[in-house]
Amino acid sequence: KGGKAQFVIDAGQKHFGTTICKSCGMIYTASNPEDEVQHLQYHHRFLEGIKYVGWKRERVVAEFWDGKIVLVLPQDPSYAIKKVEDVQDLVDMELGFHHVVPKCPNKTKTFLFIDEKRVVGCLIAEPIKQAFRVLSEPNATKESSRAWQCSDVPEPAICGISRIWVFRLKRRKRIARRLVDTVRNCFMFGCFLNTNEIAFSDPTPDGKLFATKYCNT
Ligand code: ACO
Ligand code: ZN
Repeated sequence: KGGKAQFVIDAGQKHFGTTICKSCGMIYTASNPEDEVQHLQYHHRFLEGIKYVGWKRERVVAEFWDGKIVLVLPQDPSYAIKKVEDVQDLVDMELGFHHVVPKCPNKTKTFLFIDEKRVVGCLIAEPIKQAFRVLSEPNATKESSRAWQCSDVPEPAICGISRIWVFRLKRRKRIARRLVDTVRNCFMFGCFLNTNEIAFSDPTPDGKLFATKYCNT
């Protein structure tokens, strides 16, 4: 009997004191010293990683009332490449991806969504020749969407989106949508890509919910 009561108390404590940091977005237990140390380390690294001081020659490809999109190409100055690598490391850490070396690094296009002095969104695109269409699941939920269905027949495609990420505290403000619109407009000179000419590689549940919504509207 005593054991059960103890269990209930422990389970309650797990959620007690959970905090979300308003600057880095990490969820942690402020009352737990280990968690606090982890948070401080992450906090510093994250804010350094997304810090964007502005570049003398930046390629602004879209502007909005709440930010702008900057395109970085592989031949750009090393400070721009370094920023892209730092942001990609943060994104990969969050997604639990091991650092994957892009297949065509000299053809990769990275789009950064900048607000104030931070990178709050990132999209990495590369040319592809074919993709396997995801068969749409209209009733997909976040839980079920891990097991999506893919066609066996490759279809021609032009642009592969290998990463799309938006800062946790800036989600659901159409930043991802604006990044993809911009890629469709800028990926190939002089044409606006159709949604069936772009493909999301190995999407996460969030990525799939977004992609399904994006491609149907
Ligand atoms: N759940 C349900 N619907 C969603 C979600 C979600 N988590 N995210 C987006 N949508 C749908 C909504 O319909 C939304 O419109 P609404 O807000 O008016 O309802 C529409 O997509 C447009 O969403 P945006 O606001 O443009 O998307 P956001 O800027 O929030 O970014 C993203 C979406 C990039 C998936 C973000 O949630 C994220 O960074 N997640 C963590 C990283 C991740 O998993 N990235 C995808 C990896 S897969 C890949 O990189 C190929
Ligand atoms: Zn923090």
